[in-house]
Amino acid sequence: MALVTSTEMFKKAYDGGYAIGAFNVNNMEIVQAITEACREEKAPVILQVSKGARAYANHTYLVKLVEAAVIECPEIPIVLHLDHGPDFETCKACIDGGFTSVMIDASSKPFAENIEITRKVVEYAHDHGVVVEAELGTLAGIEDDVKVAAHAASYTRPEEVEEFVSKTGCDSLAIAIGTSHGAYKFTADQCTRNEKGILVPPPLRFDVLEEVSKRLPGFPIVLHGSSSVPQDYVKMINDNGGKMPDAVGIPEEQLRHAAELSVCKINIDSDLRLAMTGSIRKFFNEHPDKFDPREYLKPARANIKELVRHKLVDVLGCAGKA
Ligand code: G3H
Ligand code: 13P
Ligand code: ZN
Repeated sequence: MALVTSTEMFKKAYDGGYAIGAFNVNNMEIVQAITEACREEKAPVILQVSKGARAYANHTYLVKLVEAAVIECPEIPIVLHLDHGPDFETCKACIDGGFTSVMIDASSKPFAENIEITRKVVEYAHDHGVVVEAELGTLAGIEDDVKVAAHAASYTRPEEVEEFVSKTGCDSLAIAIGTSHGAYKFTADQCTRNEKGILVPPPLRFDVLEEVSKRLPGFPIVLHGSSSVPQDYVKMINDNGGKMPDAVGIPEEQLRHAAELSVCKINIDSDLRLAMTGSIRKFFNEHPDKFDPREYLKPARANIKELVRHKLVDVLGCAGKA
């Protein structure tokens, strides 16, 4: 199967009450780990590339790695998506350069400007058979070099979504309902602590999601910042020389519930980073004499694969849907 757009995937996900996993890719091991798990679990998948990933690995290398995965995993549909496209030029470069989906993220701009930039990207993308994700509302956390403090984040305003979607023609909409980018999603004073002393974040705003869905029936909604920050990996990092106190994520049962509603795409990046970093730290701690990258990247890749499998089966509900 060649690369596909997300149109058909989202339609089935919406009707079936599950979500597609959108995982960020930056190198070969991550592409392999994600797509091997998806092939084995027969899950459709979105591989997404950020501005930072393009700067790190180079556009062509990433496209060719994803094309290799398409050849190796012919049974599953794969979307190649630009994550957080910062401007028209970056979106155009990805549309011209083999992507099947782009996100234009003008969510930090005033409403009218967000509409104007998004519409321009949609016109160009649709002319080239590519679909567009846009964003309304502001998530807390860090994307590339943009850091949004928790107090500066704002939930999506449901009363704006119909005008935004009809004026831009976007194909899916990312909304802010309390998720946040990175491993440190919430400050300690936004959370309570459970009996183990682990921070428990405030619940997602399902009332906002439901109001948005009521106004946009059948329309695919996207959640960014949806890593759950597995405490096993935080512990593995901290037990092996790392220092990540109070890293906390979105509870998986809340993501599962969102996937049963109108959320068709759930973005997960930080969890994969934690699995990779924890695995490599543990390997070096246990084998201080080793220096072959293949030896320490192998367990990292295997652990990312198992983590992705868990997300597909237990969180997203998309296993067996390819
Ligand atoms: O939302 C951002 C993604 O986690 C990508 O992160 O910009 O560091 O590549 P990055
Ligand atoms: P996390 O940092 O929660 O993994 O979010 C990733 C994301 O939203 C990528 O766009
Ligand atoms: Zn994001």
